[in-house]
Amino acid sequence: MKIRSKISFPTLLSLIVVAIGIITSVTAGVVMMGYANMNQTTAGVHFRLRARTFIVAESSQGPRFAFVNLDAGMASQLVNIKVLEKLKSRFGNLYTEENVAISGIHTHAGPGGYLQYWLYSFSTLGFVQESFDVIVNAIVHSIVQAHINLKPGSIFINKGDVVNAGINRSPSAYLLNPAEERAQYPANIDTLMTLLKFVDGASEQSIGAFSWFATHGTSMSKDNKLISGDNKGAAARFFEDQFATTPIRAPFNSFNTPDVGKLVTKAQTIKATGGHTCSKTSSKECKVRKNDGSLFVGAFCQSNVGDVTPNVLGAFCTDTGRPCDFNLSSCNGNDLLCLGRGPGYPDEIRSTKIRGETISEGG
Ligand SMILES: *[C@@H]1O[C@H](CO)[C@@H](O)[C@H](O)[C@H]1NC(C)=O
Repeated sequence: MKIRSKISFPTLLSLIVVAIGIITSVTAGVVMMGYANMNQTTAGVHFRLRARTFIVAESSQGPRFAFVNLDAGMASQLVNIKVLEKLKSRFGNLYTEENVAISGIHTHAGPGGYLQYWLYSFSTLGFVQESFDVIVNAIVHSIVQAHINLKPGSIFINKGDVVNAGINRSPSAYLLNPAEERAQYPANIDTLMTLLKFVDGASEQSIGAFSWFATHGTSMSKDNKLISGDNKGAAARFFEDQFATTPIRAPFNSFNTPDVGKLVTKAQTIKATGGHTCSKTSSKECKVRKNDGSLFVGAFCQSNVGDVTPNVLGAFCTDTGRPCDFNLSSCNGNDLLCLGRGPGYPDEIRSTKIRGETISEGG
C-alpha cells in the first residue's frame, strides 16, 4: 500500500471487542438483512458477528467519543435510541447522541428484523425482537468494556490505496458522469483505506486498528444462509488472529500492495488460525472467542461503498454464463439473472476469505 500521509497524537483511549451473542432462535429461520430475499433465512453460522468499539477520551471522566463497528448490515435509529437509553441509565450524560457513533459493515449475511422502518420489516416479515436485543446488548456491552478499559495511549492515522479489492458494479452508469469530473479521479472506484492505529501508552504496543475502506459486504450471495460478517468480518478475524499468533509490535509502515494471485494461493493453504480445538459437543463458551480488552482489536469499517463490489470477476448471466449486458446489467432484459462473481467463484466462502485477506493485508 502506498502511504499518503501519517499523523500521530497522544490521547486517552481504549478498545474492546465483544461478540454479538447469536442465540439459537436467531441462527434459524430469520430473513437476512441486505438482499431483501425472503427465501434467504438463517440456517447456521459461517462465523460469529461482533461489535468492536473504541473510545477516545480527554480524561477519565472528560469529553469523549465512542465508535462502534457493528458486524451487521447497518445500525438503525431504534438501535441507537435503545443503546443510548441503556448507556444513560449507567453513565448519566457521558455518552449521548452527540458522541456515540454506531456503524454497520454492510454485511448481507446477518439476521434482519432489527430496523424499525416498514421497508426493512416488510422483507423480514416483521420486527424480530431477538435480532434487535442481541445487537443492542452486544453494542452496550462492548462500550461498557471499552469504558472500563480506558488507559493512556496514542493514535496514528495513515492512508493508502488497496488495489484489486473491488470493481465498479455499474461502470456504464459511472460513464454518464461528466468527462471533466471523471478526469479528476484515477479510477471509477475509490481505493483509499484510512486507518487509525492505537498504541498503548505504557507498553508502546499496538492494541488495535480501525480502518475504513469502501466495498460492499456481498462476497456472500443472496442465496447464502450462513450468518457471516462477509469480507470485512473475515478481514477483522484474519487481522486479529495474525496479532494473536505473532508478536504485536508491528512496524508502522507495514502496508503492502496485496497481490490477488498470491492471495488466492495463500487462501487455499490457510489452516484455522488462533483459537483452540472444540468438539461438536463443546459448550458455546468454548466456541466463542473472547476478548476482555487484553487482545488486539482489528476492525474493518465501511465507508463510501457506493457502487463498489468485491466480486471482481465481473457480472455474468446465470442462464448462459455470458457477461451481462453492459449498459443494462441484465440478461435478455432480466436483471435477476445477472450476478457478480467473486475471486473464489463459484465458492462464495472462498471468495469471502480471499476478499477478507486482501482487505486485511491492506490494513
Ligand atoms: C452503452 O451505451 C452507450 C450509450 O448509449 C453506447 O454508446 C454503447 O455502445 C453501449 N455499450 C454497449 C456495450 O452496449
